Amino acid sequence: MNPVKIAVLVSGGGTNLQALIDAEKSGMIQSGSISLVLSNKEGAYALERAKNAGIPTAVVTKAQTGSQEAFEDAIRAKLTEYGVEVIILAGFMSILSEKFTSAYPRRILNVHPSLIPSFCGKGFYGLHVHEAALAYGVKVTGATVHFVNEIPDGGEIILQRAVEIREGDTPEILQRRVMEEAEWKLLPMAAEKVCADILKNK
Ligand code: GAR
Repeated sequence: MNPVKIAVLVSGGGTNLQALIDAEKSGMIQSGSISLVLSNKEGAYALERAKNAGIPTAVVTKAQTGSQEAFEDAIRAKLTEYGVEVIILAGFMSILSEKFTSAYPRRILNVHPSLIPSFCGKGFYGLHVHEAALAYGVKVTGATVHFVNEIPDGGEIILQRAVEIREGDTPEILQRRVMEEAEWKLLPMAAEKVCADILKNK
């Protein structure tokens, strides 16, 4: 059976995208195939990673499209054009509306750099998440891969992994450890799991 077509939505550096690309190349992801990388930021380095891997790219920005609705419609048009079945948010820094998420039930995955339900929801993204964890003084943090629904970071959890916080951690050091020990491993695992389930039920 043909692998499930995946779109990865990005906004920045794309290290999680790279983990997905590497996992597909190594055969760890075999039930899905990255067919499109879409960025909402021009010049995002993630786009270079996609190009280097020979994956088609698209850029859809709010500046181009105007309203949230027009922005999401433009994204959906691209997803339809590429026959996308699974959407992976990998550092995609824009909250999608219920109109969008309800069109892809259990088909949108997100990676979040904390143990949900801690340090998540509106305003918790990127380095801010690690700043908040350190400010609170928790001793353990981690990463979560979950399905995306209308509640920011509120969809069903697929995989989660804890990461230790160490004396002297800065937000940057912690971010890197959470990526290395959790995100880059969990996201490919979750992608394979979800795509394999889709193929099984086809
Ligand atoms: C990752 O840590 C990801 O978990 C986080 O942004 C970073 C993107 O890095 N996402 C969120 O905070 C979403 N709420 P990357 O572009 O190198 O993959």
